[in-house]
Amino acid sequence: MYYKIIKNNFLKGERDEMNRFIQYNPVKWIFGKGSINRLQAELSQFGKNILFVYGGGSIKQHGVYDEVIKQLEEMEANVYELSGVEPNPRLAVVHKGIGICKEKNIDFILAVGGGSVIDSAKAIAAGAKYEGDVWELIAEGKKISEALPIGTVLTLAATGSEMNAGLVITNADTREKIDWHSQHVFPQFSICDPAYTVTVPRDQTAFGVIDIMCHIMENYFHQGEGTELQDGFSEQLLRMLVETAPRLLEQPDQYEYREKVMYAGTVALNGTLQSGYRGDWTAHIIEHAVSGVHDIPHAAGLAILFPTWMEYALDSRPARFSQFASRVFGVKTAGRTEREAGVEGIQALRNFWRHLGAPAHLSNYGIKHDSLGEIADHVMKRGEFGRFCPMNRDGVLSVLRASL
Ligand code: NZQ
Ligand code: ZN
Repeated sequence: MYYKIIKNNFLKGERDEMNRFIQYNPVKWIFGKGSINRLQAELSQFGKNILFVYGGGSIKQHGVYDEVIKQLEEMEANVYELSGVEPNPRLAVVHKGIGICKEKNIDFILAVGGGSVIDSAKAIAAGAKYEGDVWELIAEGKKISEALPIGTVLTLAATGSEMNAGLVITNADTREKIDWHSQHVFPQFSICDPAYTVTVPRDQTAFGVIDIMCHIMENYFHQGEGTELQDGFSEQLLRMLVETAPRLLEQPDQYEYREKVMYAGTVALNGTLQSGYRGDWTAHIIEHAVSGVHDIPHAAGLAILFPTWMEYALDSRPARFSQFASRVFGVKTAGRTEREAGVEGIQALRNFWRHLGAPAHLSNYGIKHDSLGEIADHVMKRGEFGRFCPMNRDGVLSVLRASL
């Protein structure tokens, strides 16, 4: 999403109204079974030189590769394939893609895959129209004035990248994983057919649900007031995911469950839920730094870090945690303090994610005390942060230590 907060006085104690905001999202969202049939029509307004970006080959498992190639051939497009995008996508592949765009005069970039493929395509699109190195844009948070157009065919419900203006790229040399946003990298269209997600393995399916829940919760823990409607959207989405995820893991072929999760994944991070207030995003910021150093799956890191951050942030506004606990997990609040109910809600969330198979400790990935300093250094490069609960280096280290 491209999102601009005009007023944010919450930390100064003004809590009586929503933030004013401007929200802009131009992505054409094409959802449902068979929606791949729209591909030619969507591509027809762009030139014929197409860079087709994908990952390690899963797209050849569920037929989408053949379908895309067939449609591109019918259009007599000049197709250049860039495969090998890895999870925690690397700068090196982005550089390769930028090279192809410049050399072959690419008109349009088509990303087919999950968040890593889409994020790489966005970075290539920005880098292809930028004179300097694309890493400079990302690491220094620079602005651009143009990018190549991109479109996506989503095969994994998780990040929301299909309908937002963000990307996250890893520089393996510096061990940094950094997010960057520009309205110029919004996809022109995103084709979202839940049937393509049926082949997603069990762990990635669970991670997808966890990432989606975290996107909703990163926004939910805010300091605003007057947001009953947004709270209701978020709580209903979370309840639906809590109900649907275990059923989906038992019946991974069930289209109806895939459909609900895919819809939720896009809505969770396309700007809809964050209108009127600004969430915290601390767990994501710390997780990106952890993945940059240790290359762990994004949502596995979140499953460990998010509940620890919640415990750290609980006293910033216990009422919010109590509301979360009762409305999402049915925790009883009568006769208890908001803090007590909040603690039980955090435990319920942890138990739920463990039940889905998520890891509980950073040490499950071999992460030890000795790398926490490097992770905290990466996190603090942009200075102190945290809109719900202010964070400094000590706070980051405290969350990391409690997550070991
Ligand atoms: O490489 P392939 O063969 O495509 O396999 C992938 C990969 O191994 C596989 N997969 C995808 N679709 C499949 C499938 N396997 C079988 N059947 C299918 N239909 O799943 C594995 C993980 O793919 P990946 O794209 O890495 O997962 P995800 O969509 O969770 O993306 C994670 C990346 O997105 C970033 C994360 O940090 C991470 O780098 N994020 C991007 C955001 C954004 N742009 O807005 C926000 C998020 O918070 C997140 O940070
Ligand atoms: Zn995420």
